[in-house]
Amino acid sequence: MPITVKEPYFILETERTQYVFGIDQAGRERHLHWGKKCLPEDFFIPEYEDENSNHSAQDEAQQEYTAFGGTVYRECALKARFSDGCRETDLAYRDFRLDGDTLEVTLQDRHYPLAVTLCYRVTPGCDILTRWVKLQNSGTAPITLEKICSAELSLPGEQPYAIHNTNGAWGGEGLPAVQTLTSGALTFESRRGTSGHNHAPYLLASRRAGEASGEVFFAALAYSGNFKAEATRDLFGRTRLLLGLNDFDFSYTLKGGETFETPPVFCGTTPGFGEMSRQMHRFVREHVLPRAFAKKPLPVLYNSWEATGFDVSCENQMRLADLAAAAGVELFVMDDGWFGARRNDRAGLGDWFVNREKFPQGLAPLIAHVNALGMDFGLWVEPEMVNADSDLFRAHPDWTYHYDTRKAHELRHQRVLNLTREDVRAYLFERLDSLLSDYNIRYIKWDMNRPFSETGAENLENPQMLWYLHTQAVYELVDRLRAKHPDVQFESCASGGGRADLGALLHFDEVWPSDNTDAVDRMTIQRAYSLLHPVKTMRAWVTDVGGPNKPTSLAFRFQIAMQGALGLGGDLTKYSEADLQLCRENIALYKEIRPLVQFGDLYRLADPDADEYLCTQYVDEEKRKSVVFLAARGTRFYKKRMAVRFDGLAPEKRYALCWEGENVVKSGAYLMEVGLPLRIRGADFNRIVRIQAAE
Ligand code: GLA
Repeated sequence: MPITVKEPYFILETERTQYVFGIDQAGRERHLHWGKKCLPEDFFIPEYEDENSNHSAQDEAQQEYTAFGGTVYRECALKARFSDGCRETDLAYRDFRLDGDTLEVTLQDRHYPLAVTLCYRVTPGCDILTRWVKLQNSGTAPITLEKICSAELSLPGEQPYAIHNTNGAWGGEGLPAVQTLTSGALTFESRRGTSGHNHAPYLLASRRAGEASGEVFFAALAYSGNFKAEATRDLFGRTRLLLGLNDFDFSYTLKGGETFETPPVFCGTTPGFGEMSRQMHRFVREHVLPRAFAKKPLPVLYNSWEATGFDVSCENQMRLADLAAAAGVELFVMDDGWFGARRNDRAGLGDWFVNREKFPQGLAPLIAHVNALGMDFGLWVEPEMVNADSDLFRAHPDWTYHYDTRKAHELRHQRVLNLTREDVRAYLFERLDSLLSDYNIRYIKWDMNRPFSETGAENLENPQMLWYLHTQAVYELVDRLRAKHPDVQFESCASGGGRADLGALLHFDEVWPSDNTDAVDRMTIQRAYSLLHPVKTMRAWVTDVGGPNKPTSLAFRFQIAMQGALGLGGDLTKYSEADLQLCRENIALYKEIRPLVQFGDLYRLADPDADEYLCTQYVDEEKRKSVVFLAARGTRFYKKRMAVRFDGLAPEKRYALCWEGENVVKSGAYLMEVGLPLRIRGADFNRIVRIQAAE
C-alpha cells in the first residue's frame, strides 16, 4: 500500500522512500520522517515542553504546515486575517480521507470557519510525492489569506545542507547557484509576474552529493507566477523548505463558501542528482505534461526569428520553408512580425490580425506551401501584451494594468494586458481561436516579453490578487484553446526562459529555455534545465548567432541542439550546399536517436563547466540502446586524455559501438567500470556515439 493510515500516523511510501507524519495529543500535525523506509511500528511522536519563557514547545515541533499564531516564531506556511481583525490561525486535526493514492488530512481552525486540507499523492512506480493544500471558508464573512505555501518540508538530520537554486538572467537562464545554509534563511523568489529568469521555483538540498552519490532532497513548485522558495535552518540545525505563492504585495480574499487550491509541489529524495533528474523526467513525461503530446516525439522545427526578424513576408518564409523541408524539418514556425502594423517592436502587439501588406491573401498560401512540403505550420503570438501603438490599445486604453496617477513604464515599448478582466480574456480567446480555426496551425509559440509594472487592476475588489489571477488566466486560456484545438502544440516562451517551470509544463508541451542559442553557453544552460525538466520539453535550435564564443562549427552546434528537442533557427538562405548537406545528415540522425533523447534515461557523465567538456548519455528502458554526446569547445594544456566511463547499461549485457573509428564490443560492466580511452583535441570536438546491445 503506498499510503497507510494507522491513526495517529500517516505513512506514505513511494518505490524507495517513506514520508511519515502524525497527530500529537494537542491535535497538531507533526512531521516525523522523510527518507529511506523504516518499520511503521517504530515511529513515535516526541512531546516537547516549553524550555523557558523564550523558547516554546510549539516553536520546536516540526510541523507539516505551520500557520502563523500562538508562540510559533519561525517562518510560516500560512497567514490568514479574519474579518473581525484576528490575525492568528489555530489549527487542530479534524479528519482524513484516503482515496487510492491520494491522502487528504483536514485541519480546522478552533474558532473560525477556515479548514486547511493538506493533500498528498503518491504516484505508483515513481519516487515522487505530490503535495498541495486546499483552504476552505465555510462561513459567510471573507477571510484574507496573506501567505499561502503549497508545502512545508522538514529535512532529516542536523548537519547543514547545500541549497541549490539559480542565479540567472536573460541569456543566462538557470545558471546553478549553491550555498551552504548554516543559519537563518535563504529566499529565492520572483516579483515580476512570471517565474522569471533569475531564480527558479524549486529548491534542491544536498549533502555530500554528486551525480550518483550523497543525499539529495528536491521540491519543485508547479507555478509560473510570483513564487517564493525559502530554506531555513534553526538553532537546533534543522532545515526546512517552504514553497508557495510569493506573499510580497499579495493577498487573496477567500469569500464565504469558497475554496482555494494551491499549485502542487513535486518532491522526492534520491541518492544523487542523476537519479533525481531521471525520476523527475519520467514523472513529468508521464504525469505532468498535457497528455496530447506527452508520449509523442516532438517534431524537428524551423523557426524564422533569427533569419528574418520582424521582416517576414510570404516570399521569404516560403523560401526558408523550401530549404527547411529539404533538410528534413517537420514543423515550420513563423515567429514575430506577421500581424497588425508590426514592422519593429514599437507597434502591433495586441492586433492579432494578419498583416495584409505582408500577406495580401492571408496566411493560407504560406500554410498551403508549407503543408505541400510535408511540414506542419506554427505561429508566434504574445497574447498578454499590447503596444500603445496598436488598434487594441487605442480602442481600450484601460485594458492594461495601470494607475491613472502613475507613468506607464514600458519595456520593449509594450505594456501588460490586464488578464484578470473577463473582456480581455474573451478578446484573446476569440482572436486565437479564430486563427486556429481559420488556418491549419499546429503549433503556437506563446511568448511573454516583459515583467509587470503599475499593477493597478480597478476591476478587482482586492487588486493584490492579480499576480495569482493573471497566471491562472494564462493557464486557463491555453487549456481552453487546447480543448477546442487538440491537435495544436503549445510552447511556453518568455523572452527565452522566463517561464520555464513545471507550472508551464502542466499546460504547455515544451519550453524555450533561453534566447541565448550560442552552443557553448547552451551547454551550461541546457544542463541546468535538465536537472528537473525532461529534455524532451527543451527546445534547442541550431542558429548562426554571434557572440564571444563564436564561431563554433555547424557540426558542434548540431551536437548541442540534438540533446533536446531539435530545432533550426539560422538563415538557411546563406548556408552553403555543404552546410545544407550537414543539416540533412544531422536531422536524419536525430530522427533515429530521437526516441532515446526524448524518452530515454539521462546520465550526465561530465559537467561542461567543471570538467571542461560535456558528456551526456541517454539509455532506453530495456538498456538495449544508448547514445552518448561528447563535446568540448577546446582543451587547455593538451590535457584531455581520459577514459569515458559510461552509465545506465546492464553490466552483464554486451554492447557494440564504434569508438574513435574502431568497432568495439564490450560488456556493460567494462564500459561502466573501466571505460574507453579518449583524447580530446582541437576546437569544437564533438562526437555522437551510438551503443547497441549485441545479440
Ligand atoms: C522573444 C523570444 C524570441 C522571439 C522574439 C520575437 O525575445 O524569446 O524567441 O520570439 O521574442 O519578438
